[in-house]
Order: sequence, then structure tokens, then C-alpha cells
Amino acid sequence: MKEIAKLTDIPEGTGLRVQAEGKEIALFRVGGHVYAIDPVCPHAGGPLENGPIEGSVVICPWHAWEFDVGEGKCLNTGEEITRYSVEVRDGAVFLV
Ligand code: FES
Repeated sequence: MKEIAKLTDIPEGTGLRVQAEGKEIALFRVGGHVYAIDPVCPHAGGPLENGPIEGSVVICPWHAWEFDVGEGKCLNTGEEITRYSVEVRDGAVFLV
């Protein structure tokens, strides 16, 4: 497992983009959980980590497509997006 962020870097209801193992990963802290998905919006490449979050849904800051970060799914198209497994331990987020 590799540490990819400190929990304090991701306040509740926010997103953060990190790089790990050659990948770009967006972390979202929602309802006390941390979810990790591909940060690149499949519509036109918007940075999902910068979008506003409502519940478990992040809204792309470019054209407002919506993504459920827990399910790893676009709510506009039904398209699955890449999810990554992470674990939180001792105040740090690990890619597993
Ligand atoms: S780039 Fe995300 S909705 Fe268009």
C-alpha cells in the first residue's frame, strides 16, 4: 500500500487530485469516507476534483455533468468511471 494523501488535506465535502503510481487520482471526502476516481471528466476533460459536491455527487466545474463518487458513475450518461480502492489509516489515505 502506498500513502497518497493526509486526511487533513481533504476536508469533508472537498476533492483533491493526487498522483500515484503514474496515475492521476481524484480523492473526495464525503460522509466521513474517502472515495477515489479518475479526475478527468469523460465529457471534455474537466477537473472533477474542483467541482462542487452535493452529497455523494460531484458536479463537473466545466459543463455540470454529475458523477456519483461512491458508485463511480456518471449520472448524465450512466457511464462507469474508473474507481480506485483506498483505505484510511492513522490519518492517512493509502492506495490499496
Ligand atoms: S468537461 Fe465535464 S461536463 Fe464537460
